[in-house]
Amino acid sequence: MYMNFDPYPLPLSPYINPTSLPIFLAHSNQSSLTNSPLFSQLKSMAPTAENVVVSNIKLERMLSMKGGKGEASYVNNSQAQAQHARSMVHLLRETLDEVRLSEAEEEVPFVVADLGCSCGSNTIYMVDFIIKHMMKRHEAAGLHPPEFSAFFSDLPSNDFNVLFQLLPPYGGVSMEECLASDTHRSYFAAGVPGTFYRRLFPAKSVDVFYSAFSLHWLSQVPDVVLDKRSTAYNKGRIFIHGANESTANAYKKQFQSDLGGFLRSRAKEIKRGGSMFLVCLGRTCPDPTDQGGAGLLFGTHFQDAWEDLVQEGLITNEQRDNFNIPVYAPSLEDFKEVVEADGSLLINKLEVFRGGSPLVVNHPDDAAEIGRALANSCRSVSGVLVDAHIGDQLSDELFSRVASRATSQAKELLDQLQFFHIVASLSLA
Ligand SMILES: C[S@@+](CC[C@H](N)C(=O)[O-])C[C@H]1O[C@@H](n2cnc3c(N)ncnc32)[C@H](O)[C@@H]1O
Repeated sequence: MYMNFDPYPLPLSPYINPTSLPIFLAHSNQSSLTNSPLFSQLKSMAPTAENVVVSNIKLERMLSMKGGKGEASYVNNSQAQAQHARSMVHLLRETLDEVRLSEAEEEVPFVVADLGCSCGSNTIYMVDFIIKHMMKRHEAAGLHPPEFSAFFSDLPSNDFNVLFQLLPPYGGVSMEECLASDTHRSYFAAGVPGTFYRRLFPAKSVDVFYSAFSLHWLSQVPDVVLDKRSTAYNKGRIFIHGANESTANAYKKQFQSDLGGFLRSRAKEIKRGGSMFLVCLGRTCPDPTDQGGAGLLFGTHFQDAWEDLVQEGLITNEQRDNFNIPVYAPSLEDFKEVVEADGSLLINKLEVFRGGSPLVVNHPDDAAEIGRALANSCRSVSGVLVDAHIGDQLSDELFSRVASRATSQAKELLDQLQFFHIVASLSLA
């Protein structure tokens, strides 16, 4: 026996996704068609502002980087994050050198947690780096290393399947062999689903927290930004880059309240003697309406492609205005204010680090490749939200416009698109 649930009754269901209706109409002038019952049926199924707005409450249940292994997946579009993280390992090493060593005789595992691990190989590389570094420190101190345990944590809709399939097998080789190769792991691994803005682990149970390129994701788009009656309503835009001051301040408040929740939770979970290494997108300009690299990624070609869909009648102004990217790239001051106000953690290091371009291309002279790289990079991080808001087919239309717009400005993009990161090393006060 099987159950057949089909939201789109025949004869439409196998052929036409209602989200394609506006495209279909834009390419058709047949009044006989628009008067037909088929048309009315399609129209009633097309996404509207009311039925596709992503509720804020649901953001933590649906946000993820694009899973799977397709062209726009995070797995295939996270080489820039890998490069940026690797260029910061000297700072990570300094943090790890401050961590208190535990001895095998204590019979408690040394615990590492990556928060916002996503589904690519970056997290596996960094966790491996952290654990090998801690093994070497134990050896150098003449201590027998403890057992290691790694928690890969992200929101529940993260593609943990892809991540777990990338994990090398546990053990089976000597510690020396493990240290020398990447084909085996020397730690127990587990996935932890949940938002890092609340508690994820038991009290005093984690030695090292690592989080890269994740804390700029807000827990929600501030309500006022979606409220037409508010001065913070982000009319005509899908991001705060170039928005008005009230909109940007609403985002800043949300970031600071979220980061406060993150720090309070981690302060409970970290062991005394443990350390935290945090990296998130940041900006160098004090004014939050200039979001730097994040501003160029979401606030130029991506923003203009949304406008294209509005101009072509494929979506309404309101549909566009109801979509906002829940990202805030803080300044050093924004970040510092929260850590200091919370007071439970000491800042060992806090700096802005120039990460470089988010575009990794094989042929820097190939404008089309650069255009595709920008569209894929943008889609790999925001595509899940866009698909949920306007449907897969309009999302295809949107990102193909991002690619062609970016292709026409390829040289400027390569020259100007740079990411800066806030890097923080914290431990218990
Ligand atoms: C750009 S990816 C970074 C992935 C990985 N750290 C790396 O270096 O490639 C950002 C990740 O943060 C996660 N994230 C965003 N908000 C989160 C939250 N509130 N709690 C946990 N994870 C979150 C996203 O789901 C996503 O997987």
